[in-house]
Amino acid sequence: MDYSVPRLTDYSAAALERAAGESIAACQSELAAVRSDGDLKAFRDRWMARKNGILTQINELWLKDAPREAKREAGIRVNDLKARITELVEAAHVSESRADALAPETVDITLPGVRRPIGAEHPVVRTTNEIVSVFQKLGYSVAEGPVVETDYYNFEALNFPPNHPARDTQDTLFIAGQQSRPQRERLLLRTHTSPVQIRTMEKMRPPVRIVIPGTVHRNDPPDASHSPMFHQIEGLAVDTNITFGDLKGTLDHAMKALFGSSVKTHFRPSFFPFTEPSAELYVTCFICGGSGKRGADPCRPCKQTGWIEVLGCGMVDPNVFGFVKDNGYDPKKVAGFAFGMGVDRLALLKYGVDDLQYFFQGDVRFLQQFR
Ligand code: DAH
Repeated sequence: MDYSVPRLTDYSAAALERAAGESIAACQSELAAVRSDGDLKAFRDRWMARKNGILTQINELWLKDAPREAKREAGIRVNDLKARITELVEAAHVSESRADALAPETVDITLPGVRRPIGAEHPVVRTTNEIVSVFQKLGYSVAEGPVVETDYYNFEALNFPPNHPARDTQDTLFIAGQQSRPQRERLLLRTHTSPVQIRTMEKMRPPVRIVIPGTVHRNDPPDASHSPMFHQIEGLAVDTNITFGDLKGTLDHAMKALFGSSVKTHFRPSFFPFTEPSAELYVTCFICGGSGKRGADPCRPCKQTGWIEVLGCGMVDPNVFGFVKDNGYDPKKVAGFAFGMGVDRLALLKYGVDDLQYFFQGDVRFLQQFR
């Protein structure tokens, strides 16, 4: 692109002819180098711009400066040249060399195909599926519910009355700007999957046997054992004549199916507003087998106790049935048990991972190790 319009000293026909020829040649070679829409625009501007484009310069330098006697001849030549250049520029388009044009159509069928990695099943998803399938084999079906929940389902209908101190244990993340609504309609991020117990009982008459996997949120800063978002699986069985014995038998079976038949279970009294009585379930530590030691070292996952807490459970509190009694849940006629477990923690223990945060970083090199 080094062509610039020369000043003419010689206005003979031959000199004008030569100058015009050089100008057209320059225009053609610049045109051949146009590769993109940007190039094309620059090319057009360079040649055609009213202010200081090459044609304008030619007009200035070759016509206006021409001596009087040469003006007529120069005028004809310049007009002819302008017409040819205008034609060239107007017909210009982004050109491709022949090889460039053909390249995308060439396929080398002897090359191996492109392998698209599909990632890995996340260990938390995998653990969820395993737990759910243990219960499906017992005849449970799967239910789900919303992550953004109302105060009513997350708390009130689970027997956490407004202002009850048990609400403080949940580190709830509330949705902003809800003050103008009645308390029971205010939105929050569900702190547990238990609200789906109520949602299910509103829709299904007894008997029910369901498991409810899902994500839950709490206002916990992330560290090796906490995350503001984590996963739970809830269980609920309601029928006539369900006893604490059914709860123990079901969960004992489920733990053996998940962690191996030599695992022992151990129930300790606890408190949850929505169950009475309530318990925490422990299993023999599957790292140390219950001894509390790993060789000469203390076993860390079970804090040397030989027991690992895996879930909370209990008999459904009659007050909870009270919220759905119109759908066949008369607390005098039906009974049930419920349980809820943290899947992430179980996956950590199961796979011997020492930092929960690895689960949420999405590094496929980490995730692929659990296949
Ligand atoms: N929702 C409880 C929690 O997140 C766990 C739980 C305990 C669920 C006892 C239950 C239950 O269904 O019966 O801490």
